[in-house]
Amino acid sequence: MAQAASMIGAQCPESSNIVIFGGSGDLTKRKLLPALAHMHHWNLIGPESKIIGVVREDWDREHWINYVREQLQNFLPDDVLQAQAWQRILDHTDVVHGDLGDPELYVDLKGKLKAYEGKTNALFYLAIPPDWHERVSIHLREVGLADESDGYRRIVIEKPFGTCFDSAKILNEKLLKNFDESQVYRIDHYLGKESVQNLMVFRFANSVFEPLWNRKYIDHVQISVSESLGVEYRALYYDKAGALRDMIQSHLLQVMSLVAMEAPVSLDAQAIRDEKLKVLRSVRQILPEDVPSCAVRAQYTTGMVNGERSEGYRDEPMVEPSSVTETFAAVRVYVDNWRWHGVPFLLRTGKKLPDQVSEIAIRFRKPPQNLFSRYTEDVACNELVFRLYPDEGMVYTINAKQPGMVPELRSLHLDAPYSVAGMGTPEAYETLLHDVLLGEATLFASGREVEESWRIVQPILDAWAQKKGVHFYSAGSWDVPGMERLIEGCEGEWRNLSTGANHEFHSIS
Ligand code: BG6
Repeated sequence: MAQAASMIGAQCPESSNIVIFGGSGDLTKRKLLPALAHMHHWNLIGPESKIIGVVREDWDREHWINYVREQLQNFLPDDVLQAQAWQRILDHTDVVHGDLGDPELYVDLKGKLKAYEGKTNALFYLAIPPDWHERVSIHLREVGLADESDGYRRIVIEKPFGTCFDSAKILNEKLLKNFDESQVYRIDHYLGKESVQNLMVFRFANSVFEPLWNRKYIDHVQISVSESLGVEYRALYYDKAGALRDMIQSHLLQVMSLVAMEAPVSLDAQAIRDEKLKVLRSVRQILPEDVPSCAVRAQYTTGMVNGERSEGYRDEPMVEPSSVTETFAAVRVYVDNWRWHGVPFLLRTGKKLPDQVSEIAIRFRKPPQNLFSRYTEDVACNELVFRLYPDEGMVYTINAKQPGMVPELRSLHLDAPYSVAGMGTPEAYETLLHDVLLGEATLFASGREVEESWRIVQPILDAWAQKKGVHFYSAGSWDVPGMERLIEGCEGEWRNLSTGANHEFHSIS
């Protein structure tokens, strides 16, 4: 139980009523219920906490309990199932049903919350489509459920937060009429990932890399999320969103802001958010005429993924047969400040690619002179890679001498997987839910950060909307037209993301 080590000593928050809007939705069954059960198992939820599902269906408590049990059996890891943590959830769960637009639903909910004994803290998790965020927040305020006089009230908003710059700005304004910014937690589950959190520790608890962390020593940064999965059960949402909105506007830009930010004055949520915001504000405005040279979109067609035949995106259920939605997007952005001026940040993500791999790679500049030109034409760049998936950890690649009589250089990978250090990695949703229950907002994006991220991608969205059309790649292949264009002028190539490709020793002679 590697995870035990990482849980021991974690603070148990005050008990709270955890209300999940979208209780019968996919996020709830795949992520939220398993995370909550796991947290129960490790005593990371106050013992009197209740989990209340808000569902559209006409379900009573018994029906809900059966549903929760079934989902936990499907989605919980075996060790937790054996520990019967789910039984604790079942004993502390309830349901409210109705239409999200019906004020009666909120009156019922309020009545339920009042009837529970003890603390009346409440956390409202909005795992529902974005067009409902504002309405639900209004209804909650109208029945007095935003009022904190007898316990805290926190509202958690799932991404996507808006669908463009304007809608995100309007949503922020409207939300803040009903809840205070300090009550709003905008979830970006990438911020809950161990390796992403480790970025800050790595940068600011070690002094060796900080002097190198700038335009003088870093050639460029590659942030990649490659998924072998397709759109699965979410085509209805995804076909309207696409990879740029779904991943780059949120996860990849948040990760980039952590890579590029200055040291905060403290670990306060506000101090960290201020620094991340400065990075996002410094991102150079993309002009419409620059879009073709700094952004690439493509969509998968039929192919083979992991040895299995995969249909093209347009053949997926619920996808428009003539859809031009991109399932792959890559962009090159610049952070125009003293530290990063001129350093490209390359962000790419796609579905139905050959492997499931996510990483942040910092590629350093080459030494100014190749003293070893007799043995090798080229000295490889040093690279520091934070692996987010699989095998969370870090790898630092340096050049070394190949042992033996023939003088040869090779790349040596100094690999520090978290598992070796005995540190289990809790699921991102567990970390984030635990933080919301503690009132700790560091790992959540502020309204301004979300707006700035939309500002960055908006010119690309506009250009793509104007010039409809998309390139194609075969499912299971990295042959994405135009991708190479983005890395022109940088040292080396896009990193090979095949699982295992970067763990081998390569002779570079
Ligand atoms: C979600 C996106 O936010 O992140 C999905 O909506 C994507 O499309 C998922 O698959 C990827 O998350 P992870 O943690 O599996 O890398």
